[in-house]
Amino acid sequence: SRSMSRMRALGKFAFRNASTPVAGLRRRESVAYLEIRQTGPLSGTYRVQGSKNAVLPMLAATLLVPGKTTLHRVPKIKDVNVMLEILHLLGCCSCWEGEALTIDAGNVNNWVIPEELIGQMRSSVILLAPILYRMKKAAVVEPGGCSIGRRPIDIHLYVLQALGVKLHYEWEEHIFAQADYFCGAHLFLKFPSVGATEQAILAAVTANGMTVIDNAAREPEISELCRMLRGMGAKITGDQTGRIVIEGVKELFESTCEVGADRIVAATCLSAVAVCSGEITLTGVDASHLNGVIEPFEKMGCKIWSDKDTLTAARMDKLMAIPYLKTSPYPGFPTDVQSLIMAVMSFADGQSVVEEGIFEGRFRTAYQLQKMGAAIIIENNQAIIWGSHLIGTKVEAPDLRGGAALAIAGLGADGVTTIFGYDHIARGYEDLAGMLFMLGAQAALRE
Ligand code: UD1
Repeated sequence: SRSMSRMRALGKFAFRNASTPVAGLRRRESVAYLEIRQTGPLSGTYRVQGSKNAVLPMLAATLLVPGKTTLHRVPKIKDVNVMLEILHLLGCCSCWEGEALTIDAGNVNNWVIPEELIGQMRSSVILLAPILYRMKKAAVVEPGGCSIGRRPIDIHLYVLQALGVKLHYEWEEHIFAQADYFCGAHLFLKFPSVGATEQAILAAVTANGMTVIDNAAREPEISELCRMLRGMGAKITGDQTGRIVIEGVKELFESTCEVGADRIVAATCLSAVAVCSGEITLTGVDASHLNGVIEPFEKMGCKIWSDKDTLTAARMDKLMAIPYLKTSPYPGFPTDVQSLIMAVMSFADGQSVVEEGIFEGRFRTAYQLQKMGAAIIIENNQAIIWGSHLIGTKVEAPDLRGGAALAIAGLGADGVTTIFGYDHIARGYEDLAGMLFMLGAQAALRE
């Protein structure tokens, strides 16, 4: 009934414009699962898929042009499909040609981010700025908690208000935003949120006047978005420095852009070779995006070489524990690799400590690893891990990267590990089992 009343409240100012009924989007949970067997030394070459966290804001940016934008190397993952569904509801058309995806945003005619879809992918809140640009109004239901902890959007809302957007609340979490145009402003983010930085950029590129974003996120995905926007005619500097300066332009133009490699998928491959030993080569990757990731893997006993756009990783000797590792904003160790490295540490010699510095309560994977025999205890924001012997069993993916971490653990565990909850994994990996198989692992997707 809570959901019904929300729908009614939104309907009051929103669904009038919706061209497709949202109810039709509910889909079945998949029953697919992964089967992973203990695997010896890996070998092989793998071309890493395009980045999930880069392509989502790039897709949002296609709304800024009332015409066609083509993105290359777009990963075929569930989160991209969710973003496409929202773009379709807003009035866009899309067309795939291999890994290239063209969005035609010529006829945007809706201004609501549907609750059903924002529930599936909270990062869709970054669509507020582009929708405002096209429609002068936008509506969204504030996303609540999710499996990796609270995900407030207060910094997003601060950014929009500072840039001249009027916000009205109804029923507490229904947000209705309105702005005839954005006004450049000096922003200071209380935390370098990736999503809020993207929101600020997406608004400021067409604002009247200059915008300065201080304490901006420096993640590679921010630079990817700025690279695309510059190709569309935007004037942005400083995107790797923590202070982004944007001079608003009147309009942006049709363009083409290639998505960079997914650094978290690359880190998943590093985790696999760390557990199994052997040597693998990743192609189409920018090793500089793996700042903060390579060093901990080297500390654990991996050797990593990079060259133009390939990266070779090997582990021949013993796997060693890391006494202390904390996740932090780029170029620190990424929170998205936290559960993966915890899986690797479960096999390392000695005691490791991982502290989560970005999201609260992102240790649900630890309880699944414990089911496999991992010696892990959680104390507040820290996981303490002792290398031990794992045994394959049935486990459940608690979230996207946690699911991949369980597959990594399965590579080193005795016997067979069965991982349910494949829907989480499909959000961000085109084909996790296929990727591990290409690198020589015994991994299969069963449906
Ligand atoms: C993005 C990534 C996600 C990654 C995260 C941190 C995408 C699609 N997702 O998520 O994979 O784990 O960066 O690197 O790119 N916060 C607030 N108020 C806000 C916004 C964020 O308090 O308005 C807090 C969050 O609760 C969290 C921290 O800031 O504790 C970091 O969040 P943020 O950087 O915004 O992450 P996302 O952009 O959601």
